[in-house]
Amino acid sequence: MNRKFLLTISAMISLLVIRCGSGTQKENQDDKTAANNTDTVVISQGTNSKGIGRFKEVKLTHPLDEGMISGAQPIYNAKCIACHKLTNEKLVGPGWRGITDRRAPEWVMNFITNTQVMLDKDLAAQSDLVTCIVRMPNQDLTDEQARQMLEFMRKNDGKN
Ligand code: HEC
Repeated sequence: MNRKFLLTISAMISLLVIRCGSGTQKENQDDKTAANNTDTVVISQGTNSKGIGRFKEVKLTHPLDEGMISGAQPIYNAKCIACHKLTNEKLVGPGWRGITDRRAPEWVMNFITNTQVMLDKDLAAQSDLVTCIVRMPNQDLTDEQARQMLEFMRKNDGKN
């Protein structure tokens, strides 16, 4: 990679970081609720929402499944790290710290495997969209890999 390319990339990333601010999320959500008040819009509120997709009931294990976590680490490094930090700081997408407290396990797995539908229809996902100018691309993970990512996020949140 040459220097000019790197500079361009880092300029783009700083721009994204600036645009991907938090702050008015609640207000945005209220606006959206008013604007999209139709039957087709699923209103997601915190951990009650399971999102949209095939995961209706995810069984969590206690203690955490270390095998799943080690399966998830290389996926994170290859496919998620460019956009998601493990802290609560936004990069291109929201930081993952606390995600297992704000989202139901089913929501997380549906989001990972059914990203475009969730972004189009799920209001909670859309409120992220308002503050992030980049739309999360499909990551083509299998159901098993999505489950591994959930376990990885639980570990990152200090769950046991
Ligand atoms: C190109 C950047 C990009 C990559 C790569 C990416 N994401 Fe995302 N992700 C986003 C953005 C941006 C959002 C916020 C929703 C939106 O605006 O699309 C998001 C949102 C999420 C959310 C919801 C977060 C929340 O707090 O509601 C989850 C879960 C998630 N991503 C998982 C993953 C996983 C797992 C991977 C890797 C397999 C991944 N993402 C890779 C950009 C990315």
